[in-house]
Amino acid sequence: MTDTPNAAFKPRIFSGIQPSGGLTLGNYLGALKRFVEKQDEGIETIYCLVDMHAITVWQDPERLRRQTREGAAAFIAAGIDPARSILFNQSQVSAHAELAWIFNCVARMGWMGRMTQWKDKTAGKNAEAASLGLFAYPALMAADILVYHATMVPVGEDQKQHLELTRDIAIKFNNDYKVDFFPVTEPVIEGEATRVMSLRDGTKKMSKSDPSDQSRINLTDDADTIAAKIRKAKTDPEPLPETLEGLRDRPEARNLVNIYAALSGMTAAQVVAENAGAQFGTFKPKLAELAVAKLGPITAEMNRLLQDPAEIDRILGQGADRAEAIARPILDKVYDIVGMIRSRGSRG
Ligand code: TYM
Repeated sequence: MTDTPNAAFKPRIFSGIQPSGGLTLGNYLGALKRFVEKQDEGIETIYCLVDMHAITVWQDPERLRRQTREGAAAFIAAGIDPARSILFNQSQVSAHAELAWIFNCVARMGWMGRMTQWKDKTAGKNAEAASLGLFAYPALMAADILVYHATMVPVGEDQKQHLELTRDIAIKFNNDYKVDFFPVTEPVIEGEATRVMSLRDGTKKMSKSDPSDQSRINLTDDADTIAAKIRKAKTDPEPLPETLEGLRDRPEARNLVNIYAALSGMTAAQVVAENAGAQFGTFKPKLAELAVAKLGPITAEMNRLLQDPAEIDRILGQGADRAEAIARPILDKVYDIVGMIRSRGSRG
């Protein structure tokens, strides 16, 4: 028993976003926008604000609550329909934490130690002082996905290694217990913006945790702020080339072209062909206008939704009930496979 044939599993999408800061254009293009496309393709979609992942590094409780609601508002404002997709926050469905414990016992220390995110987050710091949760982070992520038997996970490029580990955990569990129980999940990393880079440094990814606010566009930025950030974005003095080949060693220029492509629905090659010879003095205002046109309505809708936090909490609660209904029978089966006695209440 090596690979589990996914044909045996119903197509189901799961993905998550950490409410550990305001969401960025990177989260929007690499994740949210594509989550909406998947929902609209009619596949079953489950989306989660992973608040338990967020606390693997310190989070102020009030901010965590606010950012979770803000994240939920961003999903809905971007086009996630809570009637069609399941939208909830992770801590409300305890099956995630329960399966994560079992995966902590399946995964190996060496696997976790090789994760680049772990290495990056502890680089130059005292790794001994990092939380145990941060080290075990990828096992919880595998649990998020596999507790739903999700077959596909849309993410940005930076999550690829974690999804490979999810596959390793599924395969090892299936092999150890001699079952074909977990699917071997496919990462879905597609489109022109799988890795949106910082506006200040084209070799670093755009991130909600970057100390410089100028490095990113936040989904809460107003039109003037977005335009100013794009105007000040680092570029080079050359005009745009005629083909993508000409952007090979120009990471900042390539990043702005990719952002334009993802926002407009064009390919990067089409953007370059259409703007060949343009200086950034011309291209940047065009990009700013496009970004404001696409993000402005989302920001406005987010702000409207955030006026009614009780309604957001209600949506998250309903989503959690629906998520629980899928996860619990799968988790019960896992306990049975592992050999745990479950004799409380009416069970069995
Ligand atoms: P997080 O919260 O860092 O990011 C959420 C999603 O946004 C994508 N993303 C980007 N895409 C393109 N360019 C960028 N600059 C950029 N920055 C972020 C991420 O790839 C991700 O898809 N570990 C995950 C959260 C998680 C999860 C899961 C994801 C927990 N459990 C299960 C999928 C399935 C994370 O920290 O994402």
